[in-house]
Amino acid sequence: MSAALCYRAPTTLARFMRSNAFVRAVVGPVGSGKSSACCVEVLRRAIAQEPGEDKVRRTRFAVIRNTYRELKDTTRKTFEQWVPAKLGSWKEQDFTFTIDKPLTDVTRVHCEVLFRALDRPQDVQKLLSLELTGAYINEARQVPKAILDVLSSRVGRYPSKAQGGATWFGIWMDTNPWFTGHWGYKLFSKDRPEGFELFEQPGGRAASAENLENLPVGYYDRLCAGKDSAWVDEYVDSNYPTNDVGSFYGVLLAALEVRGALGVEAPRDVGGDGVFTFWDLGRADDTAIWWLRLREGSTSERPRVDVLSHYAGHGENLSHYFGVLEERARQSGWKYVRHVFPHDARAKTLASELSVIEQAARRLGAGMVEIGPELSLKDGIAAVRWLLQQEVRFFAACSALASPKDCDGVDALRSYRRLWDEERKCFREEPVHDWASHTADAFRYAALFIKRAEYLTRGLRLQPFAVPTQLTYGEVFEELE
Ligand SMILES: Nc1ncnc2c1ncn2[C@@H]1O[C@H](COP(=O)(O)OP(=O)(O)OP(=O)(O)O)[C@@H](O)[C@H]1O
Ligand SMILES: [Mg+2]
Repeated sequence: MSAALCYRAPTTLARFMRSNAFVRAVVGPVGSGKSSACCVEVLRRAIAQEPGEDKVRRTRFAVIRNTYRELKDTTRKTFEQWVPAKLGSWKEQDFTFTIDKPLTDVTRVHCEVLFRALDRPQDVQKLLSLELTGAYINEARQVPKAILDVLSSRVGRYPSKAQGGATWFGIWMDTNPWFTGHWGYKLFSKDRPEGFELFEQPGGRAASAENLENLPVGYYDRLCAGKDSAWVDEYVDSNYPTNDVGSFYGVLLAALEVRGALGVEAPRDVGGDGVFTFWDLGRADDTAIWWLRLREGSTSERPRVDVLSHYAGHGENLSHYFGVLEERARQSGWKYVRHVFPHDARAKTLASELSVIEQAARRLGAGMVEIGPELSLKDGIAAVRWLLQQEVRFFAACSALASPKDCDGVDALRSYRRLWDEERKCFREEPVHDWASHTADAFRYAALFIKRAEYLTRGLRLQPFAVPTQLTYGEVFEELE
């Protein structure tokens, strides 16, 4: 292989690359050279692999990004900048680049690089059969933790022991600062299990800022112009935000955490009555469910809500979810009042003659199911914000994962966010559609339902009631802001 590649790593990235930690993360501002270092790392580790008996240095790496589009437009572009096409060949259909080149010491490097877009916990399935040497997660804060967990069991599997085994194996990732409630922050800055190592680059305006020599003069100053201070703090100065920038509920959840209202252990003396479930049915069988109940003594002034549990799944049929409902009721002694479905539950499914709501009525009881209020996204988000400011507490089960396809319900609410629009210099109106959306949508229906109940009856205990066909929701929500 010719020595055409000339790469000099900035200080922190050089330390990052030298580390042999099983899982390492580099956190830094935009443009600090993170992704370049991570792409060069693929090549470095491929060359450092000891040759097998046949003198071939075999490795296989996965390169992960949250969406296909970003993988194609951003990650691949950086990779191609540092790993020139002439070193191997692309198989576009598999989105795989294979390096196959002789080294001067008569060995050959054979390295497969598999590019994969994974942004939902259920995407772990795409990894389950892979035998990898290592993996690089690009912009790790946008990737669910379930992906890292599965990757941990997939790396070190190639080359096989019979072929000599992997000289080094592990996972590396880069990211802009994650917020302090993010799994990445918890893992690398708080828990820091053995084998995990964190590398933090200085901010872009710091005296020791890195990679400036490869950026246009005045890059960070220009970047700051017209941005709000929270954005600059995170993306330029590389400080960890207390909530996800653009997060709809991050600040309110952080306030609940301070009050000790997240991860609450279920008190023994709470009875099983009055439990509601709220559902979101997504495309391709994505489904999210929340279990909620109003606490005893709730008054109209300040509803007291227990968020009992959460479940998200993918690719299961409806009876699976009904089974989850029944099992949780059995385990916790819950008595259901109502199961509230979104509007699209009226549509017939391909797999059945019956609509979702009809199937739910058959299985759960006709009087037990209803369609929730239909409102604009904006009103739904306002309702969640209102709910999070009531006497609400989230039980630990809201964060517990019931299956590999599940996700942490509270983390999903925290991650529900809108993107910064670079051109318009403001946040986009619409939320990002990703792994967190279904859980956030189901919670929106719950909040709307409770808000409506509170509005209609003032002082009620949450009871099922007939859905009014005509209600001006402007009235309900004018008081929220
Ligand atoms: N060691 C290097 N030598 C030369 N150019 C470099 C080097 N490292 C990075 N660059 C260049 O600097 C720019 C930013 O690098 P890169 O995209 O790797 O940064 P990043 O930290 O991943 O940025 P972002 O946060 O935007 O993803 C790119 O144009 C890249 O080509
Ligand atoms: Mg990058």
